[in-house]
Parts: sequence; structure tokens; C-alpha cells
Amino acid sequence: MQAIVVTRYGGPEVLTSVDRPTPDPGPGQVVIAVAAAAVNPVDHAVRAGHLDHFAHGQLPVGLGGDVAGRVEAVGPGVEDVAVGQPVIALLDDVLAPAAGYASHALVERAALAVVPEGTDLVAAATLPLNALTAGQALDLLDLAPGQSLLVTGAGGGLGEYTVALGAARGLKVIGLGRPRDEADVLAAGAAAFVTDVAQVDEVDAVLDAAQLGPAALARVRAGGAFVAVNDPAEPAAERDVRVTTVHVKADGARLAELFAEVEAGRLRLRVAGTYPLAEAGAAQERLAAGGVRGRLVLLP
Ligand SMILES: NC(=O)c1ccc[n+]([C@@H]2O[C@H](COP(=O)([O-])OP(=O)(O)OC[C@H]3O[C@@H](n4cnc5c(N)ncnc54)[C@H](OP(=O)(O)O)[C@@H]3O)[C@@H](O)[C@H]2O)c1
Repeated sequence: MQAIVVTRYGGPEVLTSVDRPTPDPGPGQVVIAVAAAAVNPVDHAVRAGHLDHFAHGQLPVGLGGDVAGRVEAVGPGVEDVAVGQPVIALLDDVLAPAAGYASHALVERAALAVVPEGTDLVAAATLPLNALTAGQALDLLDLAPGQSLLVTGAGGGLGEYTVALGAARGLKVIGLGRPRDEADVLAAGAAAFVTDVAQVDEVDAVLDAAQLGPAALARVRAGGAFVAVNDPAEPAAERDVRVTTVHVKADGARLAELFAEVEAGRLRLRVAGTYPLAEAGAAQERLAAGGVRGRLVLLP
């Protein structure tokens, strides 16, 4: 198998293409022939060494959490997934020596969702990381219908799914984005759209996908809730606001439910463009430059 790995931290030049034996799936595991792998901000962070507090210098590590493809092999005990079936998965182990930027990916059966034959796998690869994070962040916020939620970065991958899933839970969602994002954020289900936190009155909670930090926390009512998205960006708690950071976990059953939301037209898949796997560094640099809407997707 081919994989793009990080052998030392740095810029796109540190991405290395390696040829390795395709792993055999162990008990409860599945090997996917990867058709598409989405590029996310966390991949750039891994490459740059910003997640070394998990890796402690143990390199190489693989890159890429979002994959779509077809089952190539199943391990002992996996009886409900067949070779050849189309699947999507989140690979949530940031220490794995190979991950989604690869021709093949080794995943736990419990991490993957089977999708219907005929699914656009390039588009489907854009779902797992951000939809699961949005759902798990909303769980952390633990709001009741009718409560208000400010989502910063609402035009982005995580932000849009949080707006949509939050609105579906009956929350009054205010989306904060760039001016160009207004129509999309409102279409996703936001009750209001702003471009500056100063336009926001008090809210019950914030999901801070744009990492505005203290400026966004200041809008939360005393005793409300705030979810940050990256270590160590969590602002210091104040006024009894419950401040936490979401750390997405793979969950194939929930991913299947989220894919059903896509099929029902309540979540959308958004592909910004595709790159050959070998051009992963260029795709990461394009994402890091800002302004991308939808996901860039690597094609092995
Ligand atoms: N902890 C976890 O488990 C987890 C999981 C998923 C994602 N994340 C993190 O969540 C963050 C968002 O991810 P993503 O995939 O949604 O990224 P993204 O698609 O790049 O979205 C970020 C959005 O925020 C916007 N933005 C940034 N600063 C802004 C500002 N001052 N005002 C208005 N909009 C602003 C960006 O607009 P421009 O592009 O125009 O700048 C972009 O639309 C990333 O840091 C990612 O690493 C964490």
C-alpha cells in the first residue's frame, strides 16, 4: 500500500510517500481500499507538530481522518460487513503509523458505516470528522430546545454541521461567519447570521469553531457552556461558564445516522476540489491559506 506519512515535523516538504505491506485486519478490524480521503485542518496541525503532546516525538505518523472506500478485507469476528461494500469511516488515532492519506486504511469495524451502493465516495469522504465532531460537541453542550447557541466559523466544515444539527435539536442558532457565508449558514438552519461577536447578545452557549476564544466566551451568559475545538486553545473559564474542548471519537453507528441525515437532505456534502494523493501537501497548503468552503479531497 501507498501512504503519506510525517517523518519529521514541518511544512509540506516533510510529507513522505511510503510503500508498505497492506496490513491484515485483526479481530474486529476491516481494511478499506481508500477511494477518497478528505483534508482537514487537524492534518496540517499533525504535520506541523502541534499534536506532539499526544505523539511525544514518536514518528512517523500517518495523516487523514476522513475516508471513503470499499471493504477489501475483514478480520475475525466481522460478520456484518462484506468485501466490496462501500463504507465511510473516521480514523481517530492521531498516532497511527498510516491513516487516511493512503491507498488502504485499517479501521475498527465499530468506526465505519456502510453506505449504499452508488454513493458518491468523494463527497461521502467529507462527512465523518466534522459531522461526528458537531454531534459530539452538541452532546457536550447539553442544551435544551429553545436555548441559544452561537456557532463561530459557521461557514466552515464543522460550523455548518453544528448549525444544522443544533437547529434540528430545536436550538436557536446564531451563525458567525464571513459575509459570503450568510446565505449558506441561514440555509443550514441558523436563525440569525452575524460577522462579528460584538453583534451577539447574550447566548446560552458557544461552539467556537473559528477559535475566537475569550471574545466568544464573553457572549455566554453566566453559568452557560462553551466548547473549544483545539488544544490548547480553550479559554480560561469565567462566570461559572462550563468550558470544555471537544475531542472527536470514531463512532460508526452514529456516522450511519449522520449519513442518513445526508440522504434525507438535512446535511449536505460539500467538495471544494480534488487532488491526487501525491499532492497532499499542496491540498493542505490550500486549506491553510483560508477561504476554502467545503472539503478538499485526496484521490489515491
Ligand atoms: N477537536 C476536534 O475533535 C476537532 C474536530 C474537527 C475540527 N476541529 C477543529 O475545528 C476547527 C474548524 O474546523 P473546520 O474543518 O470547520 O475548518 P474550516 O472549514 O476551515 O472552517 C473554519 C471557518 O472559520 C472561519 N473563520 C475563521 N476566523 C473567522 C472570523 N474571525 N470570523 C468569521 N469566520 C471566521 C473560516 O473562514 P475563512 O476560511 O474565510 O478564514 C472558515 O469558514 C479547526 O481548528 C479544526 O482543527 C477540531
